[in-house]
Amino acid sequence: MAFTIAIDGPAASGKGTIAKAVAAHYGFAHLDTGLLYRAVGARTLDGTDPVAAAEALTARDLEDEALLRTPGVGQAASRVAEIVGVRSALLDFQRAFSRRAGGAVLDGRDIGTVICPDAEAKLFVTASTEIRADRRYRELVSKGAETTFEEVLADVHERDERDSSRSEAPLKPAGDAVLIDTSDLGIEAAIATAIDAIEAAR
Ligand code: C5P
Repeated sequence: MAFTIAIDGPAASGKGTIAKAVAAHYGFAHLDTGLLYRAVGARTLDGTDPVAAAEALTARDLEDEALLRTPGVGQAASRVAEIVGVRSALLDFQRAFSRRAGGAVLDGRDIGTVICPDAEAKLFVTASTEIRADRRYRELVSKGAETTFEEVLADVHERDERDSSRSEAPLKPAGDAVLIDTSDLGIEAAIATAIDAIEAAR
């Protein structure tokens, strides 16, 4: 039986970590939909047209996660994510993934609102901008990146602004999503809160 868990939220809110843990807990497949936009964004850096890049996207484009996770590609992703043709080119793949027989967890910005409005469980994961920027800063430094907290804060802030204010599928909680603020939660507590909310929807 298909069971879909939609997890949305801004950058570094903890939604990816929660999505991965929840998928492992239930034995469901997991799709980080941000990677799709990042892969399209990365292709545009060499001048490829964004809609053409989205239409031609294959699994191979998602392989180089180290490149796709860089802040520059994150910004490019959020710029191509404003384009209607890019979003619609990625829609069918995400919907098909969400209905796979074994159950699916998708995380992104518009999963509960646009991609899977009928998802059996919906979560919206947030945390304060400073805390999210601090997490992303530590993550980047641990990978050897040379950056400052201020730079990362500005990056997170700019991406949040663009993602929340765009006209097409903006970042916002679905009316029936359970809100989880991870500002004061450790990873294990955040995962346990998410699983409790999903259990309540089952
Ligand atoms: O989640 P992540 O930070 O990897 O996403 C990168 C960018 O892709 C976001 O800033 C957002 O603009 C875009 N995105 C989106 N819709 C999704 C997932 C990501 O617009 N479902």
